[in-house]
Amino acid sequence: ATPTPTYRIGFSQCTNGDAWRQAMLAGMKKELSFYPEVSFEIKDAKYNSALQEQQIKEFLQEGIDLLIVSANETEPVTPIVEEVYNRGIPVVILDRRTTSKLYTAYVGGNNIEVGQTAGNYVASLLKQQGQVLEILGAPGTSPAVDRHRGFTQALAAYPQLQLVAQVNSNWERPSVLDRLPTVLRQHPEVDLIFAHNDRLALGAYQVCKQLGLDRRIKIVGVDGLPGMHGGIQLVQDGIINATLLYSPGGEEAIRMAMKILRKEPYEKENSLSTMVIDSTNVLTMRLQTEKLTSQQQDIQRQQQLLRQQRDTYASQQIVLYVLAAA
Ligand code: FRU
Repeated sequence: ATPTPTYRIGFSQCTNGDAWRQAMLAGMKKELSFYPEVSFEIKDAKYNSALQEQQIKEFLQEGIDLLIVSANETEPVTPIVEEVYNRGIPVVILDRRTTSKLYTAYVGGNNIEVGQTAGNYVASLLKQQGQVLEILGAPGTSPAVDRHRGFTQALAAYPQLQLVAQVNSNWERPSVLDRLPTVLRQHPEVDLIFAHNDRLALGAYQVCKQLGLDRRIKIVGVDGLPGMHGGIQLVQDGIINATLLYSPGGEEAIRMAMKILRKEPYEKENSLSTMVIDSTNVLTMRLQTEKLTSQQQDIQRQQQLLRQQRDTYASQQIVLYVLAAA
């Protein structure tokens, strides 16, 4: 029999529709498999802040012991997250922040640092001079605000590097295919595009290719996911020049949740580190992530085996009882 759940974790996710979020969820599930006493529910807000607020209210009605939340937009999602916290329910903010200090712990990348690292890398790639275009994540989302802030801070140290244009996006590629062509035609001298994630970076590449600019314009993205269409592959294929690693942090979020629930010591701010992935280290990164993936598959197989053995043992126990009773 499965043990009765002692903790209920609710996860309010801003969207679950891309590979990065799926990697996050996979990491959570892997870590959760070590805690069979925990029940876990995810609600997908589908990029809709009003829906996210509604879903967090539902969590409150259903009853949860801890909330993990990735806020779709900072402002509109803040009040309900504060309410959860004020009711004494611990809140773990994962990746996308609210505007409030009222949360128990933050887990995720430091997006100011991501932007700064990108800016300094861009400066070295362009030998400190040239024209840069930035494609931002959705307005009002904390990673877009912070990546932009860090990026412009870093660029400010290089007077010959100019940020000549900005394009807003909704974090997804079609918005780039829509908006970039016009801006790029107005700024045909652009030397480099910094896109706030690798999906946007791929869109930028496609537009550059269409306009015959793909050989000249360099592209830098963010995320650095392994797998088929992930950033590591894009760097390896020479579609983008570099990507900034931004870990989804699923495992870390669950580990943090368990520490809080079990009243173990923890830090409030937990930032996952970033690094540049470019042609100089992409092969190493690839080998390492492949190794990690295969080790995770081994763990899953072992867990499955363990479950099977438990089931076999349980049914043998029943046989023993029946025999003893006969
Ligand atoms: C995935 C994503 C990532 C990005 C992150 C920022 O949904 O768009 O590509 O790094 O969200 O929150």
